[in-house]
Amino acid sequence: MAKIIDDKPRPTAKDRLNDTVDAVQGSQAWSSIFRPGSIFRKGYTDSPRNRSYVIMNSVLYHLHPVKVKRHAVKVSYTLCLGGLSFFLFILLTVTGIFLMFFYRPEATAAWNDIANLETSVTFGLLVRNMHRWGAHLMVLAVFLHMARVFYHGAYKPPREFNWVIGVILLTLTLLLSFTGYLLPWDQLALWAVAVGTEMMGFTPVFGQEVRFVLLGGAEIGSETLLRWYVLHVLFLPFIIVIFMAIHFWRVRKDGGISGPL
Ligand code: HEM
Repeated sequence: MAKIIDDKPRPTAKDRLNDTVDAVQGSQAWSSIFRPGSIFRKGYTDSPRNRSYVIMNSVLYHLHPVKVKRHAVKVSYTLCLGGLSFFLFILLTVTGIFLMFFYRPEATAAWNDIANLETSVTFGLLVRNMHRWGAHLMVLAVFLHMARVFYHGAYKPPREFNWVIGVILLTLTLLLSFTGYLLPWDQLALWAVAVGTEMMGFTPVFGQEVRFVLLGGAEIGSETLLRWYVLHVLFLPFIIVIFMAIHFWRVRKDGGISGPL
């Protein structure tokens, strides 16, 4: 009887590796993670269509349009001041969360918590100063960004709505700065807030009511601290994030950055 000889070449280790890569890249799990246009997809080619997909399918990149005007990506045009304002906001959020682990908004504890943070907590002094300087820098960056937008006449149609959103963002930035100022509960903070709320008491018609709401009582005290703490760490950041989202969305809808001059 004739012997059957299998003359098919045996797969090498390289072939087996290629088969495995093909199987993984062809799987539903893989293609659900790496969307069309990703270089990790099977058969990726560097085409204009795939380049567009890279932008459209990335959670971060899709904030940018697929095509941008040449002048808009020049750092010298925007000075990246809007981006810097946003970066500082992120920095303040991260450092702020760190500070929240060591701070209690109670009149008897607040000042001591800050003092302990500076002396006994690892990196406490550094993070507190990053938060403080970041806050000052954000006010400066937002103001300079507004000046840049004004200089380029970007407040004119079709961007007038975004200018108004910007004014709201500036107000919220200042309010965040001011509410944070009270939290160390030192003499500087106490008297700054006393003066600020006293001034708000002169608001026409319902001045006293505004003052009462802000102080959480007739005069500055533990209730004021709790109220301003909630405003500072929760309420105002929540509102500013919503307005930032509208602001960025409008930049896209208004046809990207204005100009060139
Ligand atoms: C938290 C504060 C703010 C953030 C994070 C922010 C962020 C940005 C970013 C990232 C851009 C894209 C261009 C660029 O970087 O310059 C932009 C554009 C713009 N922003 Fe702001 N912004 C803020 C406050 C303001 C303020 C206070 C105003 C004006 C009152 C304003 C008005 C505008 C306008 C009109 C544009 C379009 C500019 C153009 O087309 O040239 N923004 N903003």
